[in-house]
Amino acid sequence: MILCIDQAIPPELLSHVRTTLADSEFRDGRETAGWHARTVKQNQQADGRRPEIAELRQDIAKALQAHPLFQMAARPKRLKPLMFSRYQPGMSYGNHVDDAVMAGPQGAMRTDLSFTLFLNDPDGYEGGELLMDTTAGEQTYKLPAGGLILYPSSTLHRVEPVTRGERLAAVGWAQSQVRDPQQREILFDLDTTRRQEFDANGKTRTFDMLSKSLANLLRMWAEV
Ligand code: NI
Repeated sequence: MILCIDQAIPPELLSHVRTTLADSEFRDGRETAGWHARTVKQNQQADGRRPEIAELRQDIAKALQAHPLFQMAARPKRLKPLMFSRYQPGMSYGNHVDDAVMAGPQGAMRTDLSFTLFLNDPDGYEGGELLMDTTAGEQTYKLPAGGLILYPSSTLHRVEPVTRGERLAAVGWAQSQVRDPQQREILFDLDTTRRQEFDANGKTRTFDMLSKSLANLLRMWAEV
């Protein structure tokens, strides 16, 4: 399942992130790429060791943990600290698959889901689409500022060359409580349906039964 979320973080936080990044130093993105991704990665990244960047990472992670749609779709157990990337004209990130295991805040973590949070509007740059190589063909994404795309980390993907302007994004990874993407999708569908039932009719018997099934499936599948 590939999911786009509008306004994944509050607008005040988005403008704070942009102001902070405008004054930050960026480094060569190859420093954080695996040996094969390094051959195709040409971008810049904000220095995560700087305190203002560490703070932004935490603020965004907190906002995502509080976002109901992100929670329902990812069911995150652990989040990898975000990276802020910048692409200027001529920069791109060729085809790659993200590392399956990464160093997380509490030791090694498995990456089940990858996400990109777009930090500036598409009219600020040309090119720079996130392109995913799926069984249904290639799909491209270029979301408005504040939009987030969540996709399985198993996907081969790339960032097309930027030809004008600047592309700013935050990228991150989650280990999910539910490892299997199909099981996650069933839980997402059930949760969406019970919320629709609640909004339309209140806490009905149907809502209760959907909630029960959702809870019991999660009990079967969750690794916590
Ligand atoms: Ni990637």
